Amino acid sequence: MEDTNRESCDEMEGHAEELHSIPDLRPKRFSEYIGQKQIVETLQIAVEATRKRSDVLDHVLFYGPPGLGKTTLAHIISNELDVPLVHTSGPALEKGGDLISILTHLKQGDVLFIDEIHRLPKIVEEFLYSAMEDFAIDIIFDKGMNARSYRAKLEPFTLVGATTRAGLLSSPLRERFGIQRPLDFYTIAELQKVIVRSAAILDVTIDEEGALEIANRSRGTPRIANQLLRRVRDFAQVRADGHINKKVATDALKLEGIDKLGLNPLDVRFLNVIIEFYKGGPVGLEAIAATMQEEPDTLIDVVEPFLLKAGLLIRTSSGRRATELAYKHLNKTGFKKAGGSSSQLELPQ
Ligand SMILES: Nc1ncnc2c1ncn2[C@@H]1O[C@H](COP(=O)(O)OP(=O)(O)O)[C@@H](O)[C@H]1O
Ligand SMILES: [Mg+2]
Repeated sequence: MEDTNRESCDEMEGHAEELHSIPDLRPKRFSEYIGQKQIVETLQIAVEATRKRSDVLDHVLFYGPPGLGKTTLAHIISNELDVPLVHTSGPALEKGGDLISILTHLKQGDVLFIDEIHRLPKIVEEFLYSAMEDFAIDIIFDKGMNARSYRAKLEPFTLVGATTRAGLLSSPLRERFGIQRPLDFYTIAELQKVIVRSAAILDVTIDEEGALEIANRSRGTPRIANQLLRRVRDFAQVRADGHINKKVATDALKLEGIDKLGLNPLDVRFLNVIIEFYKGGPVGLEAIAATMQEEPDTLIDVVEPFLLKAGLLIRTSSGRRATELAYKHLNKTGFKKAGGSSSQLELPQ
């Protein structure tokens, strides 16, 4: 359970890779959270109603690609409710006992945040069902003939779950979340706002065009926008006068190997494998992963969502295909239209 902390929300940073990032770029309040308007508005209503009734907020599930603000929203919810947040993750909860000890320590209205909830072991997940629904857990003592069970009451709490793979959640678990919200990629204008806000916190000056240049290459993702901003800031301080404008941003990002659409070397390799090795597809994901020597899960979670969104990749009934746009973007020739026969079923992603 070493990943599990009970801390004041303001001190929390959800991701190890961001632990060094002082100052903290994570918004703390709904009012600071950029984009995802509809999600924020509905959550604000739910939180305000909960506070008015001195009630406990329904369980909330956030899902979507990494870096879009799921952990941030979980912390904002606890800040806005003015209750503590206990932060843990699916893989950190190895045994039922790990979860039981967390649950029995929760106070009325506390937020329990389980990140990567799709990686919760089955045996631990089963304890959650009654915990979420009845605020109780059934603890079994002894085995076989002597088995006795004891129902322990819990204080009503709010579970906030986050996952990149909602499809992997079992339906009994998923059904127990009263509020389910998919996070989508951010628009360029929203990313531009994220970058301008972060630059102010990092105490670096940036103009609109410089922010736009970084936004264009952030793969629709605030975490990437912040990472690129830090690299551009370094470049601006070492190779320029510290100020970020369009030219500084462009030069810095070129050096980082980020292309005009924001594709990183892994994205480009993924598309190149489909185009060159598998003649544009269709090809199964497992085959692509084997050729690239990468984990299929990484490709599904990290690489594919943006390529699908950007129209560079499609999923068909027979596998992944690179689109004409992908060929053009990578300066490849030899694009062939799908099958030609009307039986070819092109599924929207
Ligand atoms: N709506 C937003 N406005 C401003 N910054 C954001 C927003 N969403 C995310 N971020 C930034 O992106 C980083 C990654 O967000 P995070 O919540 O950790 O994503 P996830 O949990 O979905 O992987 C955060 O540290 C924060 O700085
Ligand atoms: Mg997270």
